[in-house]
Amino acid sequence: MDNIMNSPAYKAAREKAQELLKKLTLTEKIGQLSQFGNSIYSSEEKIYEDHFREGKVGSFLTLRGAEKTNKIQSDLLEMQRTPIPAIFADDVIHGYRTTFPTPIAQSCSWDPELTERCDAAAAKEAYAAGLKWTFGPMVDIARDPRWGRIMEGFGEDTYLCSQFAAAAVRGFQDNGKTPLLACMKHYAAYGACVGGRDYNTADVSLETLHEVYLPPFKAGIDAGAATVMSAFNDVNGVPATANHYLLTDVLRGQFGFKGFVVSDAGSVGELIAHGFAADPKDAVCKAFSAGVDMIMAGDMFNDNIPALLEEGKLKMEDIDRSVLSILTLKYLTGLFEEPYVDPDGEKIFFCEEHLALAREAGAQCAVLLENNGILPLKNVKSIALTGPLTHPCGQAHLLGGWCGIADPSRTVTIEDGLRAAIPDANINVIPGATFVHMDKDDIDAIASDAAGSDVIIAVVGEENGMAGEAGSKADLELCGSQEDLILALCDTGRPVICLVSAGRPLVLSKIKDKVAALLNIWQPGTEAGNAVADLLTGKVNPSGHLTTTFPYTVGQVPIYYNHPSTGRPASGRWRFESKYMDCPIEPLYPFGYGLSYTSFEYSEISLSSNSIAADGELKVSLTVTNTGDYDGAAVVQLYVRDLVASRVRPVKELKGFKKVFLEKGASARVVISLPAANLAFVNSDLEWVVEPGQFKLWIADNSADERFEFDFEVR
Ligand code: NOJ
Repeated sequence: MDNIMNSPAYKAAREKAQELLKKLTLTEKIGQLSQFGNSIYSSEEKIYEDHFREGKVGSFLTLRGAEKTNKIQSDLLEMQRTPIPAIFADDVIHGYRTTFPTPIAQSCSWDPELTERCDAAAAKEAYAAGLKWTFGPMVDIARDPRWGRIMEGFGEDTYLCSQFAAAAVRGFQDNGKTPLLACMKHYAAYGACVGGRDYNTADVSLETLHEVYLPPFKAGIDAGAATVMSAFNDVNGVPATANHYLLTDVLRGQFGFKGFVVSDAGSVGELIAHGFAADPKDAVCKAFSAGVDMIMAGDMFNDNIPALLEEGKLKMEDIDRSVLSILTLKYLTGLFEEPYVDPDGEKIFFCEEHLALAREAGAQCAVLLENNGILPLKNVKSIALTGPLTHPCGQAHLLGGWCGIADPSRTVTIEDGLRAAIPDANINVIPGATFVHMDKDDIDAIASDAAGSDVIIAVVGEENGMAGEAGSKADLELCGSQEDLILALCDTGRPVICLVSAGRPLVLSKIKDKVAALLNIWQPGTEAGNAVADLLTGKVNPSGHLTTTFPYTVGQVPIYYNHPSTGRPASGRWRFESKYMDCPIEPLYPFGYGLSYTSFEYSEISLSSNSIAADGELKVSLTVTNTGDYDGAAVVQLYVRDLVASRVRPVKELKGFKKVFLEKGASARVVISLPAANLAFVNSDLEWVVEPGQFKLWIADNSADERFEFDFEVR
């Protein structure tokens, strides 16, 4: 497929970069490999002047805004001996100024094209602020909701995450005049950190690494991702930032990656804390030799590479290769032709089109977990609205983490959204609920006030800082007294609609059967209130489906649907099975789960054949009918199980899906293709193979749905 990395423009950019490279001094070359944060510009005037003059700065991170980036760029270009514009980078994770739902939420739309559109809009805003490069998408598979960074990725499933990875890259990069270079992170296996503890070690077999953790990176690279970020963690004892196997053999050798690798912030220096490098010079030597091209952030490359070259520990041709790939991308983004941006461009922030998209996305990503029929709301006269996220501080929390430049004051609150959608209802906003401990008297006071309304809406969950980087948690229940609050509200006898806004799957076991409805809204972004009101009133029918398993209790973690088959699967027949004594083996909500206001029926399911060649393709056709009373979208999921193989296979794996919108009463014929190549797995020689044999196939509404089971073979 065509993308910026295989375009004629890339070739032309590389030729120009080659010419420029010939003119650079060693200091200037190493400068191109060095990124700096705020401090080099803002605090010590002298340092930056020297650095600018000597050509020791190639890139900046988190310096934002047209005015600021233009000023720095012009200072830099004026002072340098050889003028080379800096490339400005930032974490554009789920929007820039207009904030879209968090990536984990976006994946619940099961609509990669939605992510492509959100990231294209984010790219336009970021570009207007002088950025040409984002540190995203994060494509780490996350199977442990204790890990706070689960919010930044696309869930637990490799197949689904790969589709979103490619879509995000296209959204950022293939964006006409405003391309934002993508950076696939965190390479690799960062999501496998033991215990869900951020920055922790990842001990994964090479088979699992290749089969589970690496494919989303490959998918992003195939879509043309220009850059990759090396992770903080070690992988099987070798830090990712100094991992030659990962960064060179696999990334460049096997995946054909042509762009450049940036280290994560400080991860080169941290090789010393890992006990993998003796001192900064050793750390630089190991990281650069492994395949890191640019350091985030600071002077370690500037200070140490010259000596390493002199000592023969690094080679000039390797430095040139790294510089060339960075300069190529600078040419490709048009930085040399136009190093500045027009400050008027920033008028695009919060434009109508982006707000409409944020509203649409917010509604598409929410997952309806329970509904006793209370939703959608009909003729509701009075609503009590409470919970910590109804406060003005909720405006920031409803945005989620990693929205550095967002504007919380622009967030539409749940209250504002409801008032606009149901202007005739009397909405009683009850303050006082918090994320921390609340006295019983205070809880009772809120409940008795709420009892005066027809319906109670409780907005609970997490503060945005509780997830994201270093946001690991050991407990996944609602924090503070929120659970007690909900139970007290339920005790009033009024129907309670519970909205959960969090960056991770939470344990909702104690409230699940008490509330009238449970809607996991994630962190929907700028248009939160409007999106939620659209769902509550039925203007939009919920169609989100989970992309992470929701555990029954934290003790089940890690719990993910596609676990390998055990010799003693839990059947409930006897003691000696793979299960727990004190809690169910099943999760609270399985991967793929999500309710709708309408119902769907699958019928006339047929397989194009019950036997396919190892290079063939199976087509599964079915009729989907909307049998309920509302228009809505079904997410048809296709799972397979390889029954006998040379390595133990997962109990089932997602291998296809289709989201189909149907008006009430309407039917559609849906075809899902399953190329046999998608049945490949990594064998013990680390080769991708499709092994002949018998398979089971399910067409399902979620990963636990086994109503429609079929058999086929691969010859
Ligand atoms: C550290 C984080 O791990 C990474 O994801 C981010 O892009 C950088 N800091 C820059 O903010």
